[in-house]
Amino acid sequence: MKSIIFIAPPAAGKGTQSSRLSKEFNLEHISTGDLLREEVKKGNTELKQMMESGSLVNDDIILTILKNKLETVNDYILDGFPRNLNQAIALDEMLKQNNTKIDAVIYLDLDKETAKKRIVGRVSCPKCGNVYNTMIDGMNSKVNMICDDCKSSLVKRSDDNEETFNVRFDTYMSETAPLIEYYQNKGNLYQIDSSKNPEEVYQEIKKVLYD
Ligand code: AP5
Repeated sequence: MKSIIFIAPPAAGKGTQSSRLSKEFNLEHISTGDLLREEVKKGNTELKQMMESGSLVNDDIILTILKNKLETVNDYILDGFPRNLNQAIALDEMLKQNNTKIDAVIYLDLDKETAKKRIVGRVSCPKCGNVYNTMIDGMNSKVNMICDDCKSSLVKRSDDNEETFNVRFDTYMSETAPLIEYYQNKGNLYQIDSSKNPEEVYQEIKKVLYD
């Protein structure tokens, strides 16, 4: 598999699973959320406000960022893109121009209450991207708030609060969830139950992609 999309509600495990898959199979992990957070770090306050509100950023912004990124990679995972029908159609057009296509779409299915619990404890490493959870047994770093691998201080995202989470989840339901049917109709969507532990979820993803 050379090009994979993850579609899932917030906190379903897109980042966690993409990160592991990209390391094992040498795929570029493209997280549009991370690309946008890079722009925010450079001082884009308008973008910061949009993300902290929980709504999607403007399609033109994300499409420009993604097009630039896709031109530099071959085999990749898209984590957080497309997020609506317009983005999905634009992606199809981009790929058509390059004579490529999406090989598989992984839909991580998770209910709202479980996702909310995961959001509250999520912390991540700003340097290597590792993701941990301070509220879930077995998912915290060995030393609290320090990355196991690169020893950097872990950080909490400013949009990881209950209020913003509720908007993010509602936005997912109204804008992104319709893409499930879009890719089902194309015949390349695989549904995975993401309420299981991360190892089980990972093994199921590998099974549908590589068995
Ligand atoms: P983005 O960064 O994409 O956020 P999101 O979709 O809300 O997803 P998350 O990153 O919160 O969750 P995840 O599924 O990656 O879960 P994770 O693996 O971290 O987007 C942020 C914002 O950017 C958007 O709101 C929007 O404004 C903007 N944006 C981004 N892309 C855009 C686009 N294409 N168009 C327009 N706007 C865009 O896991 C979560 C936690 O759970 C972690 O602590 C983890 O350790 C834990 N965990 C993971 N798996 C399990 C498991 N199986 N069991 C128990 N715990 C688990």
